[in-house]
Amino acid sequence: MKQWLEQARELDRQDPLLEFRDEFWIPKEADGSEQMYFCGNSLGLQPRRLQADMARELDAWKRLGVEGHFKGDAPWMPYHELLREPLARLVGAQPAEVVAMNSLTVNLHLMMVSFFRPSGARRKILIERQPFPSDRYAVESQLRFHGLEPEKCLVELGGGGDDRVIEESRVEAYLQEHGDTVALVLWPGVHYASGQCFDLARIAAAARSVGAAVGFDLAHAAGNIPLALHNSGADFAAWCSYKYLNAGAGAVAGCFIHERHHGQESLPRFHGWWGADPAHRFKMAKEFRPAPGADAWQLSNPPILAMAPLRTSLQLFDEAGMPALREKSIRLTAFLADLLASGFEELLEIITPFEPKRRGCQLSLRVRAGRDEGRRLFDFLQARGAISDWREPDVIRVAPVPLYNRFEDCARLGDLLAEFSRAS
Ligand SMILES: Cc1ncc(COP(=O)(O)O)c(C=O)c1O
Repeated sequence: MKQWLEQARELDRQDPLLEFRDEFWIPKEADGSEQMYFCGNSLGLQPRRLQADMARELDAWKRLGVEGHFKGDAPWMPYHELLREPLARLVGAQPAEVVAMNSLTVNLHLMMVSFFRPSGARRKILIERQPFPSDRYAVESQLRFHGLEPEKCLVELGGGGDDRVIEESRVEAYLQEHGDTVALVLWPGVHYASGQCFDLARIAAAARSVGAAVGFDLAHAAGNIPLALHNSGADFAAWCSYKYLNAGAGAVAGCFIHERHHGQESLPRFHGWWGADPAHRFKMAKEFRPAPGADAWQLSNPPILAMAPLRTSLQLFDEAGMPALREKSIRLTAFLADLLASGFEELLEIITPFEPKRRGCQLSLRVRAGRDEGRRLFDFLQARGAISDWREPDVIRVAPVPLYNRFEDCARLGDLLAEFSRAS
């Protein structure tokens, strides 16, 4: 594996984004060595500058009390507006189409209140096979809420047979045949288990052409792949901020609502005072006058101490730039994929599609010898500082993240795999 390490170090030397690694706290092993952290698809690392940013918010509260809503560098009243432009840049939306609020599953529910409107024979929700459990629980409970039976109205579409990759053409074919029974297509941007990245404009066009609403769960896409939500034509999207967005466990999530739905008063929506027009919010009026754009979907006043990490994180994305991050990400993941294909094919099958445009940074690895051996390999790697995650029934997910992972991390993972293979 020596040549991989040398090559990796050379690639790191040439990496224009290498300095961003120093912006993050890389967890360490007991001996002081830095972990090979491949878990940014689960929980991103803490930006070093966050402590100072958080301290500023705590200080504003300490000094200003309630006046912090209106005074200081970043008054809390319009605080969520500070996130609007960077979020819009990140997901390819108009600023008025995005809002940072709540958490992902909560936002999926709020979006389904507005966009899952079964009527007559059109009452199904189409999702991918093996969705993340929270998505399944959310859609099942929405169906029941409308008096519908998930057994009849929830369609999980797979790739055919055992195939974990789902071609977009399967979605198109299903919708062509059954489109008049589908009320909502809820699809992932990147599948959490396989790492497959979908052509969202194609999925949205297929859904809309048969009159179905379409929304995206971008948990594994936001901050991982470039997105063009406005142009995709989707009705809505929702994502979390603790994975690639590095905003901390349970961080404030994001939501997109296409501008064609703004100001549509016929659209059902749950209301709270923070969704009211800021000019009227404190008039304590009986009547709800919605804020313009996606802001109207807000319910409560935002948790400033939880929004601050997202603000910090989005600054880093603006500084690095999504095109440069994606360019590195493609090369970094290709390096790891090549390394895995150069001697570990008997140990591992990469189930993530090979083509760069069909994947983000994550590779999902199936251990050919089965679940027990897979768990053994996973534990072996964890114990030696290569942090990945295990997804039942048989997948190890590794995600080299371009903001802080090095090519060297991938080469050192290769060394560990070689050691495991030798010992097995
Ligand atoms: C694809 C997907 N959907 C939904 C969720 C649930 O997110 P939350 O707990 O923030 O609601 C996750 C969490 O990892 C996820 O990966």
